[in-house]
Order: sequence, then structure tokens, then C-alpha cells
Amino acid sequence: MASLNRRRFLKWTLGGFAALSTAAIAGGVGISLIPDVPAAANAPWRTAGQGRNPRERALSYAALAPNPHNLQSWLIELIGDDRMRLYVDRRRLLPETDPVNRQIVIGQGCFIETLALAAGLEGYRAEVTLFPEGAFATNGVDHRPVAEVRLIAGGQADPLAHAITQRRSVKEPFDVTKIPSNGQLRALTALSTADARLAATASPDRVKRLRDLLYVGMEIETRLPRTFLESVKLMRIGAEEITRHRDGIDLGGGMMEVLGRTGIVTREALADLARVSVRQLERLFRDGLGYGVHRHYLHLRLDRAHQLGRESALSRAEIATATGFASADELSRAERRRRRQAQAAN
Ligand SMILES: Cc1cc2nc3c(=O)[nH]c(=O)nc-3n(C[C@H](O)[C@H](O)[C@H](O)COP(=O)(O)O)c2cc1C
Repeated sequence: MASLNRRRFLKWTLGGFAALSTAAIAGGVGISLIPDVPAAANAPWRTAGQGRNPRERALSYAALAPNPHNLQSWLIELIGDDRMRLYVDRRRLLPETDPVNRQIVIGQGCFIETLALAAGLEGYRAEVTLFPEGAFATNGVDHRPVAEVRLIAGGQADPLAHAITQRRSVKEPFDVTKIPSNGQLRALTALSTADARLAATASPDRVKRLRDLLYVGMEIETRLPRTFLESVKLMRIGAEEITRHRDGIDLGGGMMEVLGRTGIVTREALADLARVSVRQLERLFRDGLGYGVHRHYLHLRLDRAHQLGRESALSRAEIATATGFASADELSRAERRRRRQAQAAN
């Protein structure tokens, strides 16, 4: 089975490159290189469309698909001349931030979709059979293939194919003051298909509610040491790390480069933000205040729940989830307990 990730895939395509006279399928395909990232790490964008046959060329594009934490958990088995099977590389999962592998599976879909778009560039159609040996259980992925894909002559180029090499995930702050017009939102939702429904809203109440949800989700992910550390481990700081790993979340650019090389920003330092503060907190509480960090943490969660109740548009059930309670009832019980304890203390 050929293992496919950006790094190894690069070797694989370049292996056959010398024999190639075919340049990139180009045909007006522009490329969007990551600014401030070393040339070697950008190579797959430059060499996309090169390969010994339509399948290899389509795969060289598919390797540019978006995927969670840039883990590229794709394994490809080449079968005969025109078929392939896609598997999840189970050595490359996100057990803390994606425990049920929901994002990993979405990343497989992105790969298949990009492959199908790329096949069209050369007049092929990708016949995709999802889960040919049965679907995964809802709580995980297993050894069985995600899809079998066969390239069949007679496909057409989709206009989106030209965006494969230009597309990048936006990692910049969004301008939340710019509200899309109703016409723009309608144009977006009109892209819905039978398989995927696109919804959009500019209604201030709904937007606020969605923002609150996203915010508390981010808060949980960055404040929980185990989820935060999983992301930290995948951060690539500076040109050397980005070139060496070719996966993960790149923290490139001039400033990060200087901070990384001088040791001001290191993965260890980032990790310590989570680790040290937890240890310090535990010692502080036990020795100094006489009660445990867990009780204090419970109070913080209850305070946050109270604040969300006042300031957000979230329902009680959503507030309970956002603050780590199993249900609105459990949150209410914890609130009542705290009130009783406060009364008893007075
Ligand atoms: C299912 C899924 C979830 C993602 N979640 C996030 C996210 O929460 N935050 C983020 O900045 N990027 C997210 N991304 C984008 C990936 O980080 C990005 O696709 C990957 O780093 C590769 O970079 P590229 O899309 O620019 O090629 C997600 C991508 C996928 C497919």
C-alpha cells in the first residue's frame, strides 16, 4: 500500500518526475504558496499535476486538500491501473480534540472531493463508492476503506478544480463588522446540493448565538491542558520545523522564525503555559487556601455559566455543555449546592 502524506507523496511523485515531459496540467491553474514558508514545504503546490498517469496526477492535487490540524491522515492503496482505495492512517489521529474522529472523516471527504475535481481536469470522472466494506461505527474509524475510487474517461472539468492550488485556509482574524448582503447569502445557500445543505444567516440574534457557541468551544479547547497540548505538539515553529515535518499547523513568518530560533517561542514554552500553571495552581490551593483546585474550578465554571446566562443567547442546556456539566439539571444542582454552602458558611 502506498502511504500518502505530503512529505512521502512528494518523493513518490518526484520519483517519476524525471521521466515526465508533462508539465503541470496548468491550463491556467495558478498557485497560492504559503507566504514566509520555506520553498521545500511549498513544493507540492508547485508540482501538483505532475505524475506518470492520470491517477498519480489526480492524487498529487488531492494531497492539497484541507484537513484537520493538517495531519493528512490519508493512506492510498493503488489497485490495477485505474482504481484506488482510501484508508484512514490511524497513526495520525486527534484523540483529544477529535475523540470520535468526526473531523478526520470530514478530512477524508475533502480528499475525495479534491481528487474528483482534479480527475475532471484531464477529462476523467471519479466513480466513488463510499465505505465499500461497510461504514465505520459512530464513535470511531477502523481498518476498512473509506472509499474506493475508479477513474473513468468521460469527465468534465469543474470550474472549482482551478481553485485547488489557490485555496488556503484563512488563518487571519475575520472582520466581523462586514455583514454580507442578503443577496450574497442567497448566492451561498444556492450552492446546496442533495448531499450537503448550506445555511447562512445575518440575523443579529442568531449570529450572536453562533458566536457565543464558537467562543466557548474555543475556550474549552484552549483551557483544557490535554486538548491544548495536542495542538501544541502539532505546531511547527519556524522554517526548519515546517520543512522537516510537512504536517501540523505552521507558525511560519518572519517574527515566528526569529522567536523560534532564539528560543523565545518553543513548543516546550507553549506547553508549559498549560502544564506549569496547573501544577502551580494545585500547590497554591492546597498549601495556601486550604481547599482543592477542583472546588475552585467548579466555582469558576459556575461563575462562567452565570455570566453566559446574563450575556449570551445560549440556552440553559448549551450553557451547561459549555461549562462542563452533563445537563441543565446537573448545572442547576451544582448552583443550588453552592448557594447552600455559602449560606452555611455565613
Ligand atoms: C474538518 C476540518 C476542521 C478544521 N478545523 C480547523 C479549526 O478549527 N481551526 C483552523 O484554523 N483550521 C481548521 N481547519 C483547517 C486546517 O487547519 C487546514 O485545512 C490545514 O492546516 C491545511 O491547510 P490548508 O487548508 O491551508 O491547505 C480544519 C480543516 C478541516 C478539514
